[in-house]
Order: sequence, then structure tokens, then C-alpha cells
Amino acid sequence: MRWRALLNCPSLKLQLFQLSGLSLASYKSTCSPDHPNFLQRHACLKMPAAIAIIFAIVGILVVRLLRSYFRLSDIPGPFWAKFTNLWRFRSQNTKGHTARLIALHKKHGKLVRLGPNHVSISDPAAIPIVYSTNPSWRKGPSYYGAVPISKKRAVPSIIAMSERQHTSVRKSVGRAFTTNSLLDYEDSIEATGKELVDVLTENPETDVGQWLQFFAMDMLIRIAFSDTLGLLAKGDDIDGTLAAVMARFDHWGQWGAMPDADFLLNKSRLATLLRGVGDSPLARIGMNKLEARRNDANKQMYTDLCSRFLEGQAKYPDLLRQDEILGIIMSTIGAGADTTAGTLTYTLYFLSKNPTAKTKLLQEIEESLRAGTLSSPPKWKEVQHMPYLDAVLKESMRLLPIASWGLDRVVPPAGATIAGKFIPGDTIVGCQIDATHLDEGVYGSDADSYRPERWIEANEDQRRQMDRAFLTFSAGKRICTGVHIAWLEMKKTLPLLLMNFDLELIDPNQDVRDGIRISAVKYPPPVPMKITRRDLVPS
Ligand code: HEM
Repeated sequence: MRWRALLNCPSLKLQLFQLSGLSLASYKSTCSPDHPNFLQRHACLKMPAAIAIIFAIVGILVVRLLRSYFRLSDIPGPFWAKFTNLWRFRSQNTKGHTARLIALHKKHGKLVRLGPNHVSISDPAAIPIVYSTNPSWRKGPSYYGAVPISKKRAVPSIIAMSERQHTSVRKSVGRAFTTNSLLDYEDSIEATGKELVDVLTENPETDVGQWLQFFAMDMLIRIAFSDTLGLLAKGDDIDGTLAAVMARFDHWGQWGAMPDADFLLNKSRLATLLRGVGDSPLARIGMNKLEARRNDANKQMYTDLCSRFLEGQAKYPDLLRQDEILGIIMSTIGAGADTTAGTLTYTLYFLSKNPTAKTKLLQEIEESLRAGTLSSPPKWKEVQHMPYLDAVLKESMRLLPIASWGLDRVVPPAGATIAGKFIPGDTIVGCQIDATHLDEGVYGSDADSYRPERWIEANEDQRRQMDRAFLTFSAGKRICTGVHIAWLEMKKTLPLLLMNFDLELIDPNQDVRDGIRISAVKYPPPVPMKITRRDLVPS
């Protein structure tokens, strides 16, 4: 404690300057005031002044290092992470970041220090504290990595917004994301689902993940604008739309640990001037579609996201400016496409690896079809009553949650007690999703195996605990805005696929974790599957 007090002492830096001043006196004797050479005449002053400056700089650096070390010195973690964010930066830019964090939590416990001012948490009990509905726990600086730059300025993006902006956006356009709005999106999902079944029928051996990416983007553009991009039909990433979304997540994954460096090297005026800023294909598409909608004489007829956003903006013009709508629509599509596609890909992978789970899910689908409680294509009101479908998706998202960005939050000034330790105000903390999902107290001693039954066998209290610890969509005020749409898409699409196809890994020994991309999203590697047509639908 005395060390901390000393290091926090504002006069310490001054003392270091004074200390270095002593050396100045000892060098005075080397002064030659009458020497004809200017440098020699002032050598006595130059040398000690330089040494004083070096002393001061080194001193300040040492003080800063020690201060940051002692700030959270009782929380274990990798040695270098106690002094610099470079440890986290390097880890995020090297294969196996998530596995490394899980291993660190296994070794050190529920709190691991990942930076001088950064603590990773794997304690389910911390979730309601850190992700409360109280906006005093604001998002951490790592979200700056998700802010796209277009035309040399930051584009509004829901995920990285301040709490104040976010409250305005939720108030004005939040209706678009409620469960009541879901039925309006069913037609868009079904139309895109039909195209997916058609292309998979024509491609009996293929990387299913790539088709699901095309599908998810086409579907979200339909939900947003009642129109399609035609990626599935063309079997191609037209205009590099998906590549641009991926590049944005990659950037976030790479720079999230060092937002200051991200600003200086990538997003400052100077950096954008030197590097140039490309126009985002997604923004271009959105701009054209938004313009077309504004000029559409029948615009009252639509019930898509775009119409809901425009209504919200018209109703609350003070909360949401016209020019902010585009950024919000595009950030919603950007946040929703690859997350859903990746999650569905991992679910098909897990089912192929776990034949018992696949058989049970098929049984549930067949029985529901026979009983007339499931149609083809599946309807939202039907799939909500399929417990094994729910369990399969939850178990897949528990073991491979798609987000690999940290859900960072800033501890309010008064500090907080987390996992039994006091964490001072302004510390950045975040629950590490994957490690939290392996908590044996909540998910059982076999928490690291794929077993959807755990969600069905649990009693009411256990089930509540499991749901609370489930962080795939985050939690609290900033929980995924599209969570209901995501469930709608996945619960309609997975049974649709299984009714129509048997999907098996071509390489049964494939381990997708080996090929996950370095990015803010856990992009799966290619997942080649053998796709055999079957028809479960009674004629
Ligand atoms: C399986 C699918 C999905 C998963 C796992 C997922 C997960 C997440 C997570 C973890 C966050 C971060 C919350 C935080 O920072 O604490 C988030 C934010 C967000 N998601 Fe999703 N998401 C999915 C699908 C979608 C869909 C389909 C949409 C849109 C239709 C969407 C729109 C958004 C938006 C707008 C945000 C920003 C929320 C905010 O900062 O307040 N997501 N999502």
C-alpha cells in the first residue's frame, strides 16, 4: 500500500527531476566558458541537461510501469500483460487467442489480468453486475475498433455507440427488433430459405459455411429492404459485400486491444489522408436502397426494417438524424449476417460430430411433422415449441459462441467487487464468453462436452442459472439488438435444412477450432459437407 501511495504521489516526478539535477552540478566542473568552440564552451551544460532529460523520462516510465503494475497487482495473469497492452494485442493477432484465454482462466481462476488496466472474468455471478441495465457501466475503449470510417469520418455504428446515443436509437427504432415485429420478417426468411434448399440440392459436396454466409446476407438485406442482393443465386460475393463485412470484423479483432494506436495509424485525419479510405460496398448498397425507398410512392406498404427505421426517425427527429439512419441500418446488417451464418455452420458441424444429438433432433422434427405441429417451411409459432431444437442451438452457441471480441465494460468510479475482489473504478473488465460457458458449477462437470440434453434435464432453478450464464448474445442494456431476429432465423432454418438434407462432414476428423480466423468474429474455416437429399415432409 505504501508503494502505491508513493507512486501515486504527484510530486514524485518533480523529485526525479531534482535528483537528475544533482548530476548537473557534478558536471559543472567540465565547463570551459572561454573555449573558442561553441560546443565545447557549453558541453558542461549540454551533457548534464541531456542526462537530466533521460533520467526524467526513464524515471517517469518506471513510475508509470510500477503504478500500472501495482494497480491490480493482486490479480494473476501473464507477466507482460501487467505492464503493457502489447500482450493482449499480440495474443489477439495470433492463432488460438480464445483457447489461450480459456487456459489462463483454468490456471488462474475467475479473474485474469490481461493488461495494465484490463481484467478478464469467467464468473457467471459477475454477469448481472457488469452487464446491468444501469448505463453507468459503459462500453470499453476496445469497441473503437468496430467504428468504420467512411469519407474520412466515423460512421455511426450501434455496437460502438455511447450510452446516450444508444438510448436514443433504441427509443426511435427499437420497435423494429421486438418479438411483435418478428412475424413481418417470416416471408423474407422463407423466400431466402427456399433459395438455399435449391442451391444445396445442386451442390452435393460443398463448403456449407460459404452458402450460409450468402444466405444470411441475402436474408438480412431482404428483412431490411424487401429485396435481395442475389448472392445465393449467383453463388458469389457480388461487389465484395461479405469481404467488406469480414474486413471490418478483422480490423476490430486486430486493433481492439490498442484503440489509441488504431486512431493514430488508421483512423486519424492524417492516417486516412495518407492511406485513403475506400467506400464500403455495404454502405453503397444501403445508400441506394434507402434513396429508392424515400422516393417510392408505395412506401407505406412495406413492413421491413427500413420502413420501421424511417418511421422511427420521422417520429423522433430530435433523437435520430436523417443521415444517421444509413449507418444504423448498415451496422445492423453487418452485425447480423456473419454471426448467424457462423452459428448455423457450427451447429451443423456439431450435429455431424454427434450423431446421437442429430438423431434426436430428427426425431423431434419427424414427430412434429406427423402431429401437424410443424410445417414446411417451419413457422415461428411452431418452432418455439421444439425443446430439442432450442437445446441443440443453445449447446452449439455455448461451446462455440461466435463473438471473439471481449464484452468490455468500464468499472464505474466507485469501483466494484467481482469474484470476491475489489476492482477499482475505471478498470476495464469483460466476461470472457467461452470461459464463462465452461463453468462447471452452472453447466455440470461435463461442461466441455457437447450434450444438448443438459438444457432439457435441468430443473427450473438450474435452467435459470444456465440461461443467466449464457453470454452468446451478451446481456443487460447492450444485449444483441437483433437477438430475437437471430433466433427466428436459426429456428426456422435449421429444421428446414434437416427436413430436406442429410449433412455429413466430408472429413469426420475435422476440428473446426483449428482453422478459426483471427478476427472479432470466430469465422469458421471451410466446412466441406456431403449433402444428401431427403424428404421428411409428408406428401
Ligand atoms: C447468432 C447470431 C448472433 C449473435 C451470436 C450475436 C451476438 C451479439 C453480441 C455478442 C453482441 C455484442 C453486445 C455487446 O457488445 O455487449 C451483439 C450486438 C449487436 N447485434 Fe448481434 N448477434 C447475432 C445476430 C444478430 C442479428 C441477426 C442482428 C440484426 C438483425 C444483430 C444486431 C446486433 C446489433 C445492432 C448489435 C449492437 C448492440 C449494441 O451495441 O447495443 N445481431 N450481437
